[in-house]
Amino acid sequence: MTKFIVALAALIALTAAAHAGPEEDRLKLVGHFKSVYPDLKLEDYVSGSLLFDSDGMAQYNSIMEFPPFSSELDKAEKLWKTPLKSGKTYADCLPNAGRMIAGNYPMFDNAKGRVVTLEGAINDCRLANGEDAWVYGDPGSMGLLTAYLRTLSNGMKMNIKVEGEGALKAFEDGKKTFYSRAGQLNASCANCHVDNVGNRLRSELLSPVIGQATHWPVFRGGDQLITLQKRYEGCHRDVRHVPDKAGSTRYDNLEYFHSYLSNGLPLQSSIFRK
Ligand code: HEC
Repeated sequence: MTKFIVALAALIALTAAAHAGPEEDRLKLVGHFKSVYPDLKLEDYVSGSLLFDSDGMAQYNSIMEFPPFSSELDKAEKLWKTPLKSGKTYADCLPNAGRMIAGNYPMFDNAKGRVVTLEGAINDCRLANGEDAWVYGDPGSMGLLTAYLRTLSNGMKMNIKVEGEGALKAFEDGKKTFYSRAGQLNASCANCHVDNVGNRLRSELLSPVIGQATHWPVFRGGDQLITLQKRYEGCHRDVRHVPDKAGSTRYDNLEYFHSYLSNGLPLQSSIFRK
């Protein structure tokens, strides 16, 4: 009898462990937003704060018809096609020649024991082909290249996987950053992008965390290229917290967690933001 109870307890613990984890975290947030905004569909969340701003949405739609940054994207395409010192191209380095892959990044690389962002994969490619690594958030090099590369994945659904112990650790680390209060304002990402979604902070409406990772880089004001991790830096600075540099382990893990929350949503690179 005691043996049976021990076995049963072990089984219950096992089922609980199987349920807890990344998918439960994501579904909890989906459920939270569903209860606050019952009329919104999950796909709507890619619009961010424009969900609560019909004038802003109209402005966005008209700007995106003839994006003021299209010449930047032409430059970016040239950069993508320029061979590396070895004679190889970025397309040679990346899976499927770089097409429809952005939704798989960040991924956890078991051999390297760390999260690899798409930017990280590009730097790995550069280093393997005789070039120096680029600074992650630099708009004129890494930012521009990813602006084009990510357009090759427009429409792909975010598909982040967390499998294995190392991956789960990195995910949990990103989650910790997301929920930790920071800076003189003592605010966490969640305070603004979960608890206060749809409220105004000074002149800005706060966007929901779900959908936030789907559309990078953005062109703020139509011409200023900002990568996702540069945005993390900006939000950390806004709460008077000393930010990491884009490409730090903490931000890579944050991006891993943050991107997972957008799983199932379609990507669209290079969009206008105010
Ligand atoms: C004090 C409030 C506040 C905190 C804390 C905060 N942000 Fe933000 N964040 C904003 C505001 C305001 C904007 C601009 C309006 C918007 O899109 O929400 C923004 C925008 C963003 C965007 C761009 C959304 C888009 O679609 O363009 C991302 C991504 C983001 N924040 C992530 C984070 C992360 C990750 C953290 C924690 C490291 C964080 N934020 C912490 C206020 C905050």
